[in-house]
Parts: sequence; structure tokens; C-alpha cells
Amino acid sequence: MKILYLGDIVGENTIAVLKNNLESIKKEYGINIVLANAENVTGGLGLSEKHYKELKTIGIQGMSMGNHTYSKSEIKDYINDATICRPANLNTEYGKDVLYIKYNDKRIAIVNMLGRVYSNTPLDCPFKTMERLLKDIKADKIIVDFHGDATSEKKAFMYEFAGRVDAIIGTHTHVQTADEEVYKNTCYITDIGMNGPYDSVIGDDIETILRRFKTGVYEKSSVAKSEYYRINGVILDLDTVNKITRLNLKVRV
Ligand SMILES: [Fe+2]
Ligand SMILES: [Fe+2]
Repeated sequence: MKILYLGDIVGENTIAVLKNNLESIKKEYGINIVLANAENVTGGLGLSEKHYKELKTIGIQGMSMGNHTYSKSEIKDYINDATICRPANLNTEYGKDVLYIKYNDKRIAIVNMLGRVYSNTPLDCPFKTMERLLKDIKADKIIVDFHGDATSEKKAFMYEFAGRVDAIIGTHTHVQTADEEVYKNTCYITDIGMNGPYDSVIGDDIETILRRFKTGVYEKSSVAKSEYYRINGVILDLDTVNKITRLNLKVRV
């Protein structure tokens, strides 16, 4: 089966961009399932129910999140019934730690994990959490979205769980890395990148972020406006032999 996993979707305007491009991408690569990281959709922080429903309508079957999972607190009202997995190493009753998606007779488990390096969120150990989950997961294929800053933490996680899960894909930095590989039949990439405004500072307005860096004075930022958008992700071809291919497109709005 071929799964398109899209990186962090930044801003609600990106939904329309994806809508305009998703069908042709699916056709070109023979995609069966589309998944995405949806932590930055609504105003760049979090995911409203309206935008969650829009993402479902354009064909995104499952979503993982990250450090911005609860940035729009309304998610607490709908996340338990949604095809969303929250970071598994958070301690909360809001949302599930494993999301199951069905494809024909196959069951795919999706796990979201937050990295602890450079994080100020109180988190359980991602390694211990994954060990715990693996004892209970019953699935044909297992995909982990490791949402974190440090390349080292993601890579170490890969060596710990290679051969035991089908894919470990990084998110959160919004910059796609060129280090995709398959190790012990586990697809790996440090970061799959972002979907959002092309001319931006990882999705945000350039001028605001520049002022913040130059003056040190905090200023609320907003999602950038851009003529072009990035469509970033990976295609996971999960079979007896697993394969990973990067997708990195520049499209006009
Ligand atoms: Fe993000
Ligand atoms: Fe993030």
C-alpha cells in the first residue's frame, strides 16, 4: 500500500492549495491513503473542528499532531471522536495515543510522539512510551510521527525501533531533510517538511519574524502570504519490502 504522509500543514489557506493538488499527486504516485500532520492549521497554531472537517473532506484520512495539539482548546470537544492521534507521551484523557486506519483488510496503526530535547512540555520518555504501546498494538503496519527539534533524538529513536515499526518520520522543524533511508525494513526521515507558504520563515510572516530576531521584542506573528506554496511529505510504500520517497513540490496558489 502507498501512503502519502504530508508534513505540518501551516495555515488554513493551505487547505485549498492541497485540495487543488491532491488528486493529481494521488494519481501520479498511485496513493491509497493520505495522512498528515495537522498541528499548525488554524491560524498556524492548532486545529479547529471546522478545519479538521475540511481536511477530511479533501481526503486526509488520518492526522497526527505535535506541541500545538491543544493550541485551539475546542479540540478537546471533538478529538476523542476524530481520526487524530495526539502525542502518546502526554498524560491526558483528551485524544488517543494510537490511531487505527483501515485499508482493505489491513490495519494501520499511527502513533505520534513528542521529542523531549529543547522541549519545555512535561513529557513521558518517548522510548518507554513506545515500548509500552508496542505491547498492545495490533496492526499490519505501524507508522510513527516523531515530532521534535533534535535530529539526534529522532535518529536514536530510529535505531531503537528499527525492525519493529514500518516507518518513523520526523515532523516539527518544517524543513525537509534529505536523509531518507530504509534500515531493517523501517522507513526513516528526520523531517518530512511542511505544507504552507513558500516565502516564509517556516510558515510565518517574514517581516514580523525578522523584527523579532533583530529587536528581541516579542510580537505576535501570523501565517505568511505567498504566491507559491510548498507541498512536502513522503510516500511510504509499505509492503514486504518497505520504501520511502520524498515529495517536495512548489506550486502556485
Ligand atoms: Fe509544526
Ligand atoms: Fe511543532
